[in-house]
Amino acid sequence: MERRIFNFSSGPATLPIEVLEKASAEMLSFRGSGMSVMEMSHRSAYFEGILASAERGIRDLLNVPSNYRILFLQGGARLQFSMIPMNFLGAGETADYLITGAWGKIAAKEAAKCGNARIVSSSESSGFKSIPEQAEIVPSVGAKYLHYVSNETIDGVEFKYDLDGHGVPVVCDASSNILSKPLDIEKYAIIYAGAQKNIGPSGVTLVIIRDDMLDRVPAGQHSMLDYRAIAENGSMLNTPNTWGIYIISLVCEWLRSQGGLAAMAEKSALKAAVLYDSIDNSDGFYTGHAERSARSLMNVTFRLPSIELEDKFCVEATALGLDGLKGHRSVGGIRASIYNAFPKEGVERLVELMSDFAGRN
Ligand SMILES: Cc1ncc(COP(=O)(O)O)c(C=O)c1O
Repeated sequence: MERRIFNFSSGPATLPIEVLEKASAEMLSFRGSGMSVMEMSHRSAYFEGILASAERGIRDLLNVPSNYRILFLQGGARLQFSMIPMNFLGAGETADYLITGAWGKIAAKEAAKCGNARIVSSSESSGFKSIPEQAEIVPSVGAKYLHYVSNETIDGVEFKYDLDGHGVPVVCDASSNILSKPLDIEKYAIIYAGAQKNIGPSGVTLVIIRDDMLDRVPAGQHSMLDYRAIAENGSMLNTPNTWGIYIISLVCEWLRSQGGLAAMAEKSALKAAVLYDSIDNSDGFYTGHAERSARSLMNVTFRLPSIELEDKFCVEATALGLDGLKGHRSVGGIRASIYNAFPKEGVERLVELMSDFAGRN
């Protein structure tokens, strides 16, 4: 096998080696079927089993109650930015948006095409470094829903609590921290996530939606944008991303074998602490982007004294097999994405480089 690197990419991101090995072993013939998962009908008993296993895996890991549906859609998290207002926000109606980073801002912009997207809180003027306290969030009277992003992947800020909508349905984009810790699902009306960070490969969007939201889908909705129609058809209104759903089923098995989400939360806290300690103990050579209380355990964002040093740092890191560290093109800096499948050893290698690099520069 060719050497594998430590891949700090924000997504598509590193997958558990055990999952890749299993998929590789089952590539030519999936469990006696004589074909790969990519080649089999989505209506076959084989695939039905895979879909059921992926659904059960998500339901068990996140402890999803029976009045929620688990859907596997396409179009990425970004389609959800549109699909949510297209189903739940009519012209003249209001939905609340919390803006704690780049993705929340884009979501609100899409919603404004359907109705009033009211910004109830935004940290943009201070550079997306903070997360509001629950007590600061006052939903609008009559708001159709309250949308927020639980982990802003670009900025590296994360909610440490499940937001309470005080009666307003809470809709959450959890693309970059879902499955990293247990959640209180009953606080949410909808949680969605692009799969390509912590769930599986790109091309699948997980949507967990409460039954009463399905009843609110307007009559006459285009069927591929209609949560109710998709739920009634068990995520198979059209041909789903069969391969992606298969990998999700394997990731769920892997997560269970690792002790589930409580174990993931513990591991993530340890990995992130190693990195943040290295930043904090660098005598100012490295500066963390997020305020301490808002620091993401998934995407650690920081800067070096100059853009030139950041570029040099990335070049040296890549040469050592530490890749994907360049910050998002819109903000620059360094971003180390350390999702569930990212090994602690990779974090240790990165902090060794950080210490050595600071000493030399
Ligand atoms: C928090 C968050 N929301 C939405 C998106 C967009 O996801 P997609 O590319 O699946 O549409 C991303 C992508 O990185 C993200 O990190």
